[in-house]
Amino acid sequence: MPYGITKDSHDTRLSYEQIKVFCSTLRKKLTLDGGFFTFLNFAALNDWNRGLYSAGFRTIRFGSWIKTNGYVKPCPYPTNALEHFVFTTRKSNRGECILPFYLSGQSQKLKSHETSIVSYRKPVSLMRTIILNHTNVGDVVADGFCGSGSTGVAALLDDRTVLLNDIDSLKIDGIINNLKHYQNYSGHKPKEDFLIKERRGKPAQSMDEVIERQAHKTGEKTDRRKTVKTESNAAAKETAKAQEEVATNVAKKSNKKRTNRGFTVEQKAKILEVIVHHNYTERMDWTSYSAKVQESLGRKREVNRTLLARTSKAIARSAAPKGVTLQIPDSSSNNILNQKFLNLTAGKKLLK
Ligand SMILES: C[S@@+](CC[C@H](N)C(=O)[O-])C[C@H]1O[C@@H](n2cnc3c(N)ncnc32)[C@H](O)[C@@H]1O
Repeated sequence: MPYGITKDSHDTRLSYEQIKVFCSTLRKKLTLDGGFFTFLNFAALNDWNRGLYSAGFRTIRFGSWIKTNGYVKPCPYPTNALEHFVFTTRKSNRGECILPFYLSGQSQKLKSHETSIVSYRKPVSLMRTIILNHTNVGDVVADGFCGSGSTGVAALLDDRTVLLNDIDSLKIDGIINNLKHYQNYSGHKPKEDFLIKERRGKPAQSMDEVIERQAHKTGEKTDRRKTVKTESNAAAKETAKAQEEVATNVAKKSNKKRTNRGFTVEQKAKILEVIVHHNYTERMDWTSYSAKVQESLGRKREVNRTLLARTSKAIARSAAPKGVTLQIPDSSSNNILNQKFLNLTAGKKLLK
């Protein structure tokens, strides 16, 4: 959101009237479980409070981003400065999960693929922390004023779908470049201390549950000593192998009866292993996914694409525990970036 912190022609502070129009459009467009987050200048806090309230929002939370170890240049923000944010949602009970402040470095160093840095760029680590706190895997993260695309990079790293927009067509090449190289930012980790506790470790737990559920379905009991409860993604990766073993054992002993979808229960368990691998260990595009399925099923010929897509969807849906989405690669695209980088427009307002 432009709020007049630089001399950029597109960084003009919004008037109260503009804020009001924005807020009432937001109110109409935001889904019930959606949330809106924007950074703002201290001087604009009051205008946003009034604007959101007059549009009908009743959950309005303010907070601050405390910047540490920043680089004074090329970012205009001084080290250890504060920047503020507002969060709102149409739900009345979402207030409790808003942290009053975030602490973050600025991550302003040029990456090898970059030629310049947008001066008000937000750190990817900050955006990841916020995105993890307020959305789930597969959710849409939209940034109508995306500047350098940090929000997009952060969302891609954490498997969200991205919608971006910026009025300044000159920035588009830089944004695309950042998104193409989003993996270069994987070292910009979310700030663990600022992750809301109940969301922390969710993927790791869900994998345990996935394997447990599958075992339960095929009438087998998993060896609980092998089902390690983990608290972080990194730990999940370490245990992934052990858990895959559990699934394989289950599959080996399971019923070989052919199901009406063309795969045996044993084969389905193997496909589930590949899905789990895709979700927790290594992201795959469709080509590598189907090759991996083919390999794990020990087939010489490629698996029928439509059948595999349909079956994978069904397996992911039925194996996922409540509240968790297991993703499968998009069969219509071979490119993980295209799959998630749905829309980037220059000059058009996204929230119409
Ligand atoms: C403060 S910056 C956003 C910074 C961004 N979060 C980042 O990390 O780089 C504001 C952006 O809004 C864009 N902008 C200003 N007015 C706009 C409008 N009417 N529609 C779309 N984008 C606009 C500017 O070009 C600028 O890139």
